[in-house]
Amino acid sequence: MKRIHAALVLGAGVLAAGAAWAHGGATGIVKERMDAMSDIGRNVKSIGQMIKGVAPYDPVKIANAGGAIAVHGGEALTELFPEGSLQSPSEASPAIWTDWTKFSDLAANLQTSALALKTLADQNADRKTVAGAFGKVAATCKSCHEAFRIKK
Ligand code: HEC
Repeated sequence: MKRIHAALVLGAGVLAAGAAWAHGGATGIVKERMDAMSDIGRNVKSIGQMIKGVAPYDPVKIANAGGAIAVHGGEALTELFPEGSLQSPSEASPAIWTDWTKFSDLAANLQTSALALKTLADQNADRKTVAGAFGKVAATCKSCHEAFRIKK
């Protein structure tokens, strides 16, 4: 029985490693925020493909994805980072808690910029304007990851 169980666990681990973002082994709050980030990532990817023309441009889908990103921003994001929560396999940097103001400002920017994108897409603004708003959302990911995420 034990051996079968071990094989199942191993199989599940391999599957998880094959997912878009491998965060196998994460539990608790670290898993929660990795899941939130992965959801953000999926929405960004979907908008990106529409902006680039790889997928059909659909302002309704862009607005929905923008809204989905905004939900994860601001306090919803910062509350997933209780002080010192660096359990493996977290890629979070300890700088988050020494520079909390910058970190929470970036979390707020993520929400504001995603809502701005949603509003423009809802209003069916021209593609160039929507693309510009998307660029601002993407810039917050980059700034925060550069400062507060350690790629392992
Ligand atoms: C306020 C800071 C902040 C912002 C803004 C932010 N991230 Fe993150 N992100 C992090 C941190 C910190 C981690 C590492 C978390 C961990 O491993 O514990 C992370 C991890 C990730 C991961 C990896 C998740 C995993 O399963 O390991 C993805 C994907 C991601 N972010 C996508 C995005 C995208 C896309 C955006 C912008 C739309 C974004 N993030 C905006 C801080 C941020």
